[in-house]
Amino acid sequence: MNGINKIPKEKINEIKNSVDIVDVISSYIPLTTSGKNYFGVCPFHDDTNPSMSVSREKQIYTCFSCGASGTVFNFIMDYENVNFIQALKMCADIGGIDLNINSIKIKDDTKYKELYDMYEIACKLYQNNINTQYGSLAKKYLLDRKIDQKIIKDFKIGLALNNYDLLAKLLIKKGYNEPFLTDSGLVVKKNLDYYDSFFDRIIFPIEDVNGKIVGFSGRIYKDDPNKKEAKYKNTKETKIFKKGQVLYNYRIAKEEARKEGYVIIMEGFMDLFRAYQIGVKNVVISMGTAVTKEQASLLKRMAKDIILCFDGDSAGEKASYACANELLELGITPKIVRLEENLDPDEYILKYGKEKFLEKIKNPLNIMEFKLNYLKNNKNLDSEIDMSKYINEVLDEVKKIDDDILLELTLRKLSNETKLDIDFLKSKLNKKEKNKNEQKTKVEKKNNNMYIKAEQNLLYYMLISTEVIKMYQKKVAYMPTDNYRKLAREINYFYKENGYINVSDLMIVLNDNIELLNTIKEINMLNLKENYTVEEIEDYIKIIKQFNIEDESKRLKELMIMEIDPVKKAEIAQKILEIKKLENEIGEDE
Ligand code: CTP
Ligand code: MN
Repeated sequence: MNGINKIPKEKINEIKNSVDIVDVISSYIPLTTSGKNYFGVCPFHDDTNPSMSVSREKQIYTCFSCGASGTVFNFIMDYENVNFIQALKMCADIGGIDLNINSIKIKDDTKYKELYDMYEIACKLYQNNINTQYGSLAKKYLLDRKIDQKIIKDFKIGLALNNYDLLAKLLIKKGYNEPFLTDSGLVVKKNLDYYDSFFDRIIFPIEDVNGKIVGFSGRIYKDDPNKKEAKYKNTKETKIFKKGQVLYNYRIAKEEARKEGYVIIMEGFMDLFRAYQIGVKNVVISMGTAVTKEQASLLKRMAKDIILCFDGDSAGEKASYACANELLELGITPKIVRLEENLDPDEYILKYGKEKFLEKIKNPLNIMEFKLNYLKNNKNLDSEIDMSKYINEVLDEVKKIDDDILLELTLRKLSNETKLDIDFLKSKLNKKEKNKNEQKTKVEKKNNNMYIKAEQNLLYYMLISTEVIKMYQKKVAYMPTDNYRKLAREINYFYKENGYINVSDLMIVLNDNIELLNTIKEINMLNLKENYTVEEIEDYIKIIKQFNIEDESKRLKELMIMEIDPVKKAEIAQKILEIKKLENEIGEDE
């Protein structure tokens, strides 16, 4: 949480207490109530069920499906894609609390202020250039490609003139020097001169998720066979520009996607502009590169449904496959549109028009339909070798699918295609699943241990009851699992400092301790009943103690075997006896 340390804790608490998380979240998504909790469809993953619960008592939300969890600030940060300070400000506004945000400058903002400002200056210059007489050729190029004046304006399209130091001179005149000039990526230093990085290119400004211009992409617009230049050129990676972390047109598409319920991802600028022109504005582009994890998780937050509409050629198909898998990793199952005749969306819309394109978007392939086609590429299914390879590959893909109906439909299709009995395919799939599970269970077994459950349950109630905290302090004082022990320690500490416990306040104190916040999320997700009995708590404590004792006696036994000194050996044996006694005492409590 950037900037959190600059604001007094009391202020943060005051703001938090001025709003009710239930009211705030229900202004974003509909909530229905059942018992003490409120439920809604989680906006942070692909879902139709009300998996998200919001607790008025705890002032937190928790999604039992994707694990999203946090305070009212976390919700706003994730939903609005804003930073902590901005979320705080929004809450303060709702709660009617005065928070002078200008006196608390956002860290990143001031840190890179020069770079942001330089990009604004450059953008204005480029925008102006394209409307001058020197820009007529570039303007003609755009108009010839049916990029009209409205698009030029809406996307702030500009032009870097073939005047190599125009921008540099302007920046220097405005007082920018090294290291900012070079660091910005706007100009390149050659000998004593600064050259415009985008010299003689049409400019597309790129905004970050907060809507600030952080980079440019420049396209050539003169067909010059003598020059072998890249068609597009992008700002180099700078402090404020990481190409893999932005999605072009994010700001507009975010709003539109929320209305439409889905977002479309395409590859290129021209594709996006063309779609925009026919009123399809819930589109972002990857700007030609493979979709990164960061971009996939941005997409995930934009809408429930994600449609990939890449170029119709085989490169576009490959990119769709890679992007789909990236999204699957995040638990999103995208749909895929494939355009005929190797056309890209721009060409397709120009050739077939708006209605035909909308029809494509309204009837995307489901992920398995797409993958069956994809895996058939370069295979001759008349050959048994290719056929068996195909079946294995399809089954491997099927394993990744979480949807029973889709699984059944896909197996039926595969059975039809291959003339193999569906039961045979199912048994083959089960065999693959079994191998996968065997590897998994080794890890899971440990997690399912009784004592881990006991630790988790105990923590769950420690987070809501000071009575349980006191019982823990008195009787256990040591959790065997690292993260749980750390969390228990933080809970104890919070209670000691404040005299009460409240999970949302604790989360704010933990600030950016991701590890512990994740542990809290894990515990929140247990969703246990609200009320506990003292006996239950004592049971958990007993299980943990028993484990600690067994663990210690195991350790001592190993130590004894290693020890050669007979006196020390006897000492260890004595300790083991004492521990045995403790163990018996716990047993007798029953
Ligand atoms: N791209 C890039 N560098 C290149 C080529 C492409 O960064 N040398 C990015 C651009 O963002 C481009 C996208 O990849 O928009 C898709 O590439 P392509 O399909 O070639 O571009 P189009 O959008 O079709 O552009 P045009 O129609 O102008 O050729
Ligand atoms: Mn293209």
